[in-house]
Amino acid sequence: MKTIDLRSDTVTLPTQAMREAIYHAELGDDVFGEDPTTNRLEKIAAERMGKEAAIMVVSGTMGNLVSVLTHCRRGEEVILGDQSHMFLYEAGSMSAVGGIHPHTIANQPDGTIRLKNIEAAIRSSNVHFPRSRLICLENTHNRCYGSVLTPQYTESVAKLAGERGLRVHLDGARVFNAAVALGLDVTELTRHADSVSFCLSKGLSSPVGSLVCGSSQFIAEARRNRKVLGGGMRQSGIIAAAGIAALEQMVDRLAEDHENAKRLAEGIARIPGLSIELNRIQTNIVYFDVADDRFDAGALVKQLVGRGVKILQVGPGRLRAVTHYGINAEDIDLALAAMSEVMAKS
Ligand SMILES: Cc1ncc(COP(=O)(O)O)c(C=O)c1O
Repeated sequence: MKTIDLRSDTVTLPTQAMREAIYHAELGDDVFGEDPTTNRLEKIAAERMGKEAAIMVVSGTMGNLVSVLTHCRRGEEVILGDQSHMFLYEAGSMSAVGGIHPHTIANQPDGTIRLKNIEAAIRSSNVHFPRSRLICLENTHNRCYGSVLTPQYTESVAKLAGERGLRVHLDGARVFNAAVALGLDVTELTRHADSVSFCLSKGLSSPVGSLVCGSSQFIAEARRNRKVLGGGMRQSGIIAAAGIAALEQMVDRLAEDHENAKRLAEGIARIPGLSIELNRIQTNIVYFDVADDRFDAGALVKQLVGRGVKILQVGPGRLRAVTHYGINAEDIDLALAAMSEVMAKS
């Protein structure tokens, strides 16, 4: 029985082209700046994001932490959404490692943070307050149904940040999903941010790796901070080779994942006992609920595993399914059939 694993787009396996690229990768010591494949990936990534330079890191979490450490000093403050991945799911790293203070503001359902709330959160100069230094946005927004931030919204936040002497970091783990969903070049979404991190190992299917992009000066300092975290890698071209294949071959196909997510969401809406806000599905992340509180969402997850379908429980009655490379329309129909069967028996 084939497993249809919809828990996350991080479960994607490298393509044949990636495996071949890894096998043939030209290698050197990247801490000496001598890994030609890593250097090439970093150049391609910077160009794609419209920035001067880029640095490869092992994960999205490390990319965000390196960025925050590069923007802020100890005791300074980062303004970010209360539903952001950086606040909820990165082990409190900015405070644990950097002594940097997270100041959370409510995310709206579409992943934005209201400008007036950001403005109110920026501290005045007063000995009692930490210094506000950085605003972080997330595009697409994982917890907010994979929603897409528009270039106009990002620009308005950057304008406010600029006026108040703050910087903007974009957690763009899935920024290519946003670009594909909006039909825009990704630079439209990144140009207003001072730094951007994006992941190779989610929808783009690479086995490992993320990139941080920004000005040459910022990336030089980020390189030092990556080293502080033990993230200097040696023959990292092994990873970068797959990353190059990902950027060259795996971006446009994200549209297929978005279509499959829509198909899944529409199917879920037809299953008695499940409820979903269909109009919120914009990219590859689908959240839905068991409509009846008496039905245990955990039991649904377990019974689906027995039918070869994996989804994630993310709250008491709340479930998440993510579409990705390796999942086709037929798999979606099989997953829906399994969900219908389990719900019918409940
Ligand atoms: C929006 C967002 N940012 C950052 C990350 C962290 O990436 P990683 O798991 O590579 O550390 C994730 C992971 O799912 C994410 O969804």
